[in-house]
Amino acid sequence: MSVDFLALAQPGVQKLSPYVPGKPVDELARELGIDPARIIKLASNENPLGASPKALAAIRDELAELTRYPDGNGFNLKARLAERCGVQANQVTLGNGSNDILELVARAYLAPGLNAVFSEHAFAIYPIVTQAVGADARVAPAKDWGHDLPAMLAAIDSNTRVVFIANPNNPTGTWFGPSALADFLAAVPENVLVVLDEAYIEYGEGAELPNGLNYLADYPNLLVSRTFSKAYGLASLRVGYGVSSPVVADVLNRVRQPFNVNSLALAAACAALDDVEYVAQSRRANEAGMQQLEQGLRLLGLSWIPSKANFLAIDLGREGASVYQGLLREGVIVRPVGGYGMPNHLRVSIGLPGENTRFLEALAKVLARG
Ligand SMILES: Cc1ncc(COP(=O)(O)O)c(C=O)c1O
Repeated sequence: MSVDFLALAQPGVQKLSPYVPGKPVDELARELGIDPARIIKLASNENPLGASPKALAAIRDELAELTRYPDGNGFNLKARLAERCGVQANQVTLGNGSNDILELVARAYLAPGLNAVFSEHAFAIYPIVTQAVGADARVAPAKDWGHDLPAMLAAIDSNTRVVFIANPNNPTGTWFGPSALADFLAAVPENVLVVLDEAYIEYGEGAELPNGLNYLADYPNLLVSRTFSKAYGLASLRVGYGVSSPVVADVLNRVRQPFNVNSLALAAACAALDDVEYVAQSRRANEAGMQQLEQGLRLLGLSWIPSKANFLAIDLGREGASVYQGLLREGVIVRPVGGYGMPNHLRVSIGLPGENTRFLEALAKVLARG
């Protein structure tokens, strides 16, 4: 009789559904039997500008050392980040993408009998990392698609150890302002770690979208996570970071794999941090692309959720799955979000002007088919 290794997995893992990433261009090219160059991917909130030339040069310089393990402490990158964030290097944790930081938090602070609070329609990794360690998820209802911070506060109980908040959130693009954040932090019990996920902050930071780092000095229970995958254009290299109190950083460091960020990623991230103009250009291109998409959607009579990130969740007013399939047949990959409890929406990442045009034309064509 064969052993059932699914039944032997810990109960939380048995019930897990794996994360579904955006469809890769090559996969669709194989399925459609067409040239990958004819396909556009606006499905994973990547930076359409291509990586910063400075990051590319840093990677080339680093290639000679591929035979060596990376610096397991990421000394240079941590020092640069500490300087940029106005903190000490011992407050920075490096991750294999910011997803790694979220997972380290779950492994260090959650366990069966404990729970994490997050919002309805929140980023899919929160339930995954929570369930993977056998902890419970307490999901607070969203308000107008966004995080309802008072509802999240109300969901906290004596077994809550972590609250995951994305500002802006993916896949909704919704955000909350500085006073909402300040009120929330002041009210959260001191023994609950608030993970403020700012993967998209560089696209929208300003009067309406607060910089979480400004609250660190007052709240030792705050961790701000950020990434080089979006505005810094390095999604493929997998590098992100958390900024927290030194104690929380020390705890995360205990469960971190020793070489979780590779040497090419470390070098590229340092160079990307210095390329201030690239990030500014990414933000400008995103703002222009957002306007272009919004204008096109208006002409199509569609509405969308206002967004401060590099994507829009479009309300099709009908089931999105068939429109997604229709777009695939046009060589346009976007993201269905039915799994987020948003069956009538499709999420589209802001692309280059030509890509946005192609998307809008393909969408018009698919919708016209009925
Ligand atoms: C809200 C949010 N947080 C975190 C991440 C993780 O990004 P990465 O692991 O590439 O840093 C993403 C990626 O899409 C995201 O949307």
